[in-house]
Amino acid sequence: MKRRTPAYINIPIVLGLLIIVFYMFTQTSDFLSTKFFLGTALISIVVVFIQGAIGDLIENEKFKKLTDTEKATYLAEKKVPYFQYLWNGAFKSQSEKEEKDILIDHGFDGIMELDNQLPKWWLGLFYFGVAYCILYVSSYFLTDFAHPYKEYEQEYREQTAAINEYMATVTQPTIETAVFSEDNVEAGKAVFETNCVSCHGEGGKGGIGPNLTDNFWINQPEKTLFKNVFYMVENGSTNNPTMQAWGKNGVVSGFEIQQVSAYVYHINQEQAPITPAQGGAAPQGTEANWEKAK
Ligand code: HEC
Repeated sequence: MKRRTPAYINIPIVLGLLIIVFYMFTQTSDFLSTKFFLGTALISIVVVFIQGAIGDLIENEKFKKLTDTEKATYLAEKKVPYFQYLWNGAFKSQSEKEEKDILIDHGFDGIMELDNQLPKWWLGLFYFGVAYCILYVSSYFLTDFAHPYKEYEQEYREQTAAINEYMATVTQPTIETAVFSEDNVEAGKAVFETNCVSCHGEGGKGGIGPNLTDNFWINQPEKTLFKNVFYMVENGSTNNPTMQAWGKNGVVSGFEIQQVSAYVYHINQEQAPITPAQGGAAPQGTEANWEKAK
């Protein structure tokens, strides 16, 4: 007769599983003090005791049917503490008679194969894995839990909200405060490619809008190149509405103007101009004589 797992082992296992499941669905430890969790835990403990009591009844019935020697061995075994019993069980080797009973016939090749029972810890892990898999897969398809798309959407929404909030409170650069920074060139390039490239061409070589890589400028309201670009993107051109007031119209933020101005400064001052021979637009306006300060 097999020895049953005592309640003091079953209860922590059941509570442990309950905590894992609750945590999976709520993702915080707040549930620990909720009535719902405490109620479920209490009911589970009661169920464990009921299962134990039923087990005792069945065991008593079975015990009555044992022979006297079997009864004696069973009682002796029961005296061994549970963990020691588990330990012994794990390392127990079969007697020869037991081996004979589980020997699989290998007459043709002479190999000795025993039809051993799977270890309990292995079976336990296996059943736990199956139960966990069912729980996980069903919650994946039926709930929002562990759903990458849903989680992505939610995080995206939160991020956007956080960015908007930050943008609303932070002071945007203005023409007075904006400064050139080499670090903004890359981001400025992205702003340029989204908003400006359609008119000012690849790399600012010009098209519908003037070539931004040469030293000839139609509009020169500011003294330094960087501020001049900032001014133009913020206010647009008074002569030609095709170049709209990107900043004033709210299409780009102060940060983006600061970035794109750094990019235009970079292609104008830190790179060779794209000449008409290289596919650039012909110079327009008058030659500029920018002050050195950025
Ligand atoms: C719809 C076409 C168009 C778009 C898009 C456009 N521009 Fe322009 N841009 C022009 C035109 C046309 C001019 C010339 C205005 C004038 O004649 O005064 C101009 C002028 C400029 C000037 C001044 C050049 C000079 O010689 O005076 C700068 C700087 C400039 N644009 C930067 C930008 C930036 C940066 C963007 C993107 C945020 C942008 N533009 C988007 C058409 C455009």
